Amino acid sequence: MIILGIETSCDETAAAVVENGTKILSNVIASSADMHAKTGGIIPEQAARQQVKSIIPVVNRALHSAFGKKSQTSHFSLLTSKIDALAITVGPGLIGSLLVGVETAKTLSYLWDKPIVPVNHLPAHLYANWLRPMQENGRGELKSPKFPALALVVSGGHTDLVLMQGHGNLKWLGGTRDDAAGEAFDKTARLLDLPYPGGPSISVEAEKFLHQSPIISHQSLTIFPRPMIDKNNFDFSFSGLKTAVLRTVQTKDNLEQEIPEIAANIQEAIADVLVAKTLRAVKKFQPKSLLLAGGVAANARLREKFKLEIENWKLKIDFHVPPPHLCTDNATYIAAHAYFNYHPIPWQNIKANPQLTITGEWIKN
Ligand code: KG4
Ligand code: ZN
Repeated sequence: MIILGIETSCDETAAAVVENGTKILSNVIASSADMHAKTGGIIPEQAARQQVKSIIPVVNRALHSAFGKKSQTSHFSLLTSKIDALAITVGPGLIGSLLVGVETAKTLSYLWDKPIVPVNHLPAHLYANWLRPMQENGRGELKSPKFPALALVVSGGHTDLVLMQGHGNLKWLGGTRDDAAGEAFDKTARLLDLPYPGGPSISVEAEKFLHQSPIISHQSLTIFPRPMIDKNNFDFSFSGLKTAVLRTVQTKDNLEQEIPEIAANIQEAIADVLVAKTLRAVKKFQPKSLLLAGGVAANARLREKFKLEIENWKLKIDFHVPPPHLCTDNATYIAAHAYFNYHPIPWQNIKANPQLTITGEWIKN
């Protein structure tokens, strides 16, 4: 089954064609992040306007890049005839941005007479772990995650730990009580005057520090607090980190020189808490696999720390983390989620839902 996924929940306009939930035939993303970098964060109205500009060209490019060459025609009706269904992110996200994708997908479903599947963006992130990277398409065995799986979704707006008993069978274990992990990166980066999005900026600065000071061990990066790390639950709290970074910044006369060291400490504090809490859940629930997903999962130190701690604790678990470019927002995992949770509904019943939670009900027949 071939699914065209569409994703417009925030500042990326994305479309992708995926076969049987695992093989990426195309993956096109237009981002307005550069525009938001100038203002230090997303202005929802501007993000929605950019979505309107990009959506049709992006869908067009996704179809052409999936089928254009092989079919020896670029005639649109021939390209769309190869699609079996559409998948669309209905939430959570910014309402203006979501509406652009949702209304476009509904229109295409009606015009092309194709089934349409509404998708919750949060559990969908996890399906990047079912995808085979494009260059490996057709080659090698794909090691799909086994159930039960424990999954950590860490994005710009959400931090959720869930137990996955099967496709569509998710139990929420815990999440952030205030800021999301990605938000902590974005807000602290702003305090350091680093460009949006903050995660990649902090990670680049941290790398400078660790590279310049190879004898520094990660254990010494302790200037910031690790809230709730020892609490016997699966909740997180990151808003205190922002305050601690602000206080540190205010005491520095020569901030610019110390940015790499502060960044390394921010990254380590966030990674420490995420790894400790997640592995606490692994020890308790003994799942067969551990899945990481969401933009923050692109962080190299976080990925490394998970691997090291799994080894240290000798945990018998398959660890899955998507390649970094599939962690951040794109439409491949929207299509993959729709394949493994195939519940099309009449296009008339599809509605954007900006407040959706990771286990939230989004299908109304
Ligand atoms: O999943 P995502 O692309 O969009 C949402 O659904 O929110 O996540 C975006 C978040 C941003 O907060 C961004 O700063 C963070 O992911 N991020 C990273 C990295 N790349 C993106 N955080 C840490 N390290 C990275 N390399
Ligand atoms: Zn996302």
